[in-house]
Amino acid sequence: MNQLDTKIVTFINVKGGVGKTTLSINLAATLAIRHNKRVLLVDGDSQGSATKWVGHAEEGSEFPCTVISLATASGNAHREIKKFIGLYDYIIVDCPPHKEAKLNASILLVSDLAIIPFNPAPIDLNAIDELIPLLNTTLEYNPDLKIYALVNRHDNRKISSEVVEYFNENQEITLLRTKIKSRAVYCVTMLTGSSVYTSNISAAKNEIALLTDEVLQIL
Ligand SMILES: Nc1ncnc2c1ncn2[C@@H]1O[C@H](COP(=O)(O)OP(=O)(O)O)[C@@H](O)[C@H]1O
Ligand SMILES: [Mg+2]
Repeated sequence: MNQLDTKIVTFINVKGGVGKTTLSINLAATLAIRHNKRVLLVDGDSQGSATKWVGHAEEGSEFPCTVISLATASGNAHREIKKFIGLYDYIIVDCPPHKEAKLNASILLVSDLAIIPFNPAPIDLNAIDELIPLLNTTLEYNPDLKIYALVNRHDNRKISSEVVEYFNENQEITLLRTKIKSRAVYCVTMLTGSSVYTSNISAAKNEIALLTDEVLQIL
């Protein structure tokens, strides 16, 4: 629970490759550049993908927010993160893809919003299912936690009825209105240490701006 001004947004999924790092980076950069917010990006993954991402930036075009790693903080991550409350407007956390990671449980305890990126295929729903026990336990201690799922790599097809039904049945998770499409620019910016917000692909920039607006509305 975080009653001070700083809002903590956590990207989480037991599965890797769903877009946690990509979306953390892009939300963080958009909040910093477009909304002029003080943003701390926390890399919670021992693979250090977010840290490596921003490390690719060239001199003079540095990533617009501070990035720290708490990958080794494990069950202490919530205490570590509390040290930054009040210093930033938003803390965005990129979680590791493990069901058992103590860091995930710890970070959720202090989060205001958990976002679960997933590919809108029924098989990806199994991964969300695996997260539900942890989410339910978290809600006992942090009842104000808001939990949303985010369609990533959307291909314009109608979301399948299986996916829609899943969110009707699991009411503790709401589907975000914004859907992120599959676009090469997300991979390209990973190699240039930047975000789509400073790219010239306006469709990507717009969808991340919409996601950011939706997150701001929720918080
Ligand atoms: N919307 C998207 N369009 C195209 N590629 C994407 C998109 N989202 C993620 N990717 C790519 O998918 C791979 C996995 O994404 P990543 O953010 O590292 O996932 P995670 O952090 O969940 O493991 C990366 O190569 C990334 O560039
Ligand atoms: Mg990652």
